[in-house]
Amino acid sequence: MSVRIGILTGGGDCPGLNAVIRAVVRTTIQVHGGRVFGIRKGWSGLISGEVQEMLLHTVSGILPKGGTILGTSRTNPFKVPEGLSKIQENFKDFRLDALVAVGGEDTLGVADKLHHHGIPVVGVPKTIDNDLLGTDFTFGFDTAVNIAADAIDRLHTTAESHNRVIVVEVMGRHAGWIAVHAGIAGGADVVLIPEVPIDVGEVCEVIRQRHKKGKDFSIVVVAEGAKFMEGSGANGEMIVQDEKLDAFGHVRLGGIGSVLAQVIEKRTGFETRYSVLGHIQRGGTPTAFDRVLATRFGVAAVDLVVKKEFGKMVSLHGNRIRAIPLAEAVSGQKTVDMELYDIAKIFFG
Ligand code: F6P
Repeated sequence: MSVRIGILTGGGDCPGLNAVIRAVVRTTIQVHGGRVFGIRKGWSGLISGEVQEMLLHTVSGILPKGGTILGTSRTNPFKVPEGLSKIQENFKDFRLDALVAVGGEDTLGVADKLHHHGIPVVGVPKTIDNDLLGTDFTFGFDTAVNIAADAIDRLHTTAESHNRVIVVEVMGRHAGWIAVHAGIAGGADVVLIPEVPIDVGEVCEVIRQRHKKGKDFSIVVVAEGAKFMEGSGANGEMIVQDEKLDAFGHVRLGGIGSVLAQVIEKRTGFETRYSVLGHIQRGGTPTAFDRVLATRFGVAAVDLVVKKEFGKMVSLHGNRIRAIPLAEAVSGQKTVDMELYDIAKIFFG
């Protein structure tokens, strides 16, 4: 009997999601003679039963497209009344043999719990933040870094022409991966990450020293989750746009760029502006690297389903695709490798 796979994308959208969907659909149909059912809007679609069969033509032309043709949401079924039982019922009603859940720590955390409730599930790691444990890279990250590096290049133009300091706020939630990679690639003069509290005095000193050397412009990259050092004005708190928690307990980050720019201008006297890249980093066409990684992940996920290796997540180790337990991937967060941050620091100033 041919395998019937359900697929959903959960959490924030991310370049490369469509490449995974296409890979899962084409591998299942063409290689295994199976059938794929697309679940709309993440876990919400599996609760409400928004499920539709996907055919080869459904995924035609989607490889270079950003976002997800399935739609997504930050729905947590364990916070929805009867969420679990509805998922179990729909899984049975649509006669699914397995579920491929494509997402970050939240979506895969739910996938792991569902696995323990008897749903045969396989995870595919996605997030521009690159903060999932157990995989060297998640797809979407490379695209976000390229967009941020390109933005830094463009902001250099104005910084240099107007002798300004420009603070560039990038995403990444509690991990500074985007900031460090984009900062190194874009030649940032300071890179600030959530893993290392911001010492404003030190930042201002780096900028002053640059001016003394005749470099009267600076680019400061700051990750949205970076915090000021205790006693430096903001008492070690994160700057948030909205304190209200979402279904997975996250606040909405954002605003550190503007606060930091004001502090730098006040302390150094140099004109300082800021730019928040926001969702631009998640938008548009995925890089070739992300398309290839997403495709390899999609093919590997179907392979796990066919071998009935459930409760696992596909992952990248070096240049090899491997499967690791979902539980391992969601057991913590992969924060920035300090050896890499030390490399970025060589170029501060
Ligand atoms: O996890 C990806 C991410 O883009 C984070 O970098 C950011 O903090 C968050 O999602 C923003 O989420 P939303 O689009 O729901 O505001």
